[in-house]
Amino acid sequence: MRADPAPYDRRLSRLRLGFPAAEALLILNEKNIRYLTGFTGGDGALMVGPDWLELLVDGRYVTQARGEAPGIEIVEFRSRVEGIAAVAGRHGVGRIGFEAASLTVEEHLRLQAGLPEVGLEPVAGALQTLRAVKDQREIALIREAARIAAEALAAVRDMIRPGVRERELALELEYRMRRGGAEGVSFDTIIASGPNSALPHATPGGRAIADGDCVKVDYGAVWGGYHSDETCTYVVGRPSARQEEVYRLVREAHDRAIGAIRPGIACGEIDRIARECLAEAGMESYFTHGTGHGVGLDVHEPPRLAAGREELLEAGMVVTVEPGIYLPGVWGVRIEDTVLVTDQGAQCLTPSSKDFTVL
Ligand code: GLY
Ligand code: MN
Ligand code: MN
Repeated sequence: MRADPAPYDRRLSRLRLGFPAAEALLILNEKNIRYLTGFTGGDGALMVGPDWLELLVDGRYVTQARGEAPGIEIVEFRSRVEGIAAVAGRHGVGRIGFEAASLTVEEHLRLQAGLPEVGLEPVAGALQTLRAVKDQREIALIREAARIAAEALAAVRDMIRPGVRERELALELEYRMRRGGAEGVSFDTIIASGPNSALPHATPGGRAIADGDCVKVDYGAVWGGYHSDETCTYVVGRPSARQEEVYRLVREAHDRAIGAIRPGIACGEIDRIARECLAEAGMESYFTHGTGHGVGLDVHEPPRLAAGREELLEAGMVVTVEPGIYLPGVWGVRIEDTVLVTDQGAQCLTPSSKDFTVL
């Protein structure tokens, strides 16, 4: 049940800024529907007009929608297209903006056939951009997700030793996150050891950890619908001088990027700062992905901290900073924190230590 309707009203007001009459926005992305109404069901459609709002759900979700989104008009539909057409007809809607990323070509064709008088216009990422700046409640949820996750990692860290298989570790970490209260995990946990740690998004497999391995742990928990995202890389047994040197370099890139975070700086600039640090050591070609991304109702959402991105960071955004160096076939290191952008700079939400740690 929604404790406080005010955040939803504020979000809708922001969405409606500049909303022309006789237009409606059709929202199909479930996270966006949740963001605007509090309804957490896995299917539905939200139609937003200049001064009206209707949430369309099928019979499975009517009771849930009434409970989670009190005060919002709930419409039960048998066929989604017919439901949308009925609402559009009732409000005399001439043009509907829809989220291009959330409608399949097939559904679009059916919608067009069901609404012959209505113009359908794709709108790109309007809601995702709206979601980028978090309010205090959202920040508290992400912080709690990160706390639950870190507590679980602390409980399984002793398991990171020679002979333990990646898959067992991933399972135990996910179990601990769930037992610690997480509603789910942010994504399939990555435990990547030895040469596998050189794969940025490895899937945990049957490989047993060996002495001298880098072990990359990329994991997160979900709390109140919000995600955390953190990567710790450890060395098991005796580290080589090269492992320690590379770790310290990635840590330097991570720290410099986080140190540069402030409202008004371009996202691409944060990426450039991380990359430049690695370039000073001639290692930039081993950093093969963007420096970070927004985190919230989705684990990956705007803004992207990547080369050339001109969007400016704003206070209240929550983003990851996650530089890495991957030496194919050998090992890799990534260090990732989820941070809040504040007027005073970045505030770290993911509490696990990022100091060079030998287990
Ligand atoms: N685990 C996905 C990411 O760090 O972006
Ligand atoms: Mn991650
Ligand atoms: Mn990430």
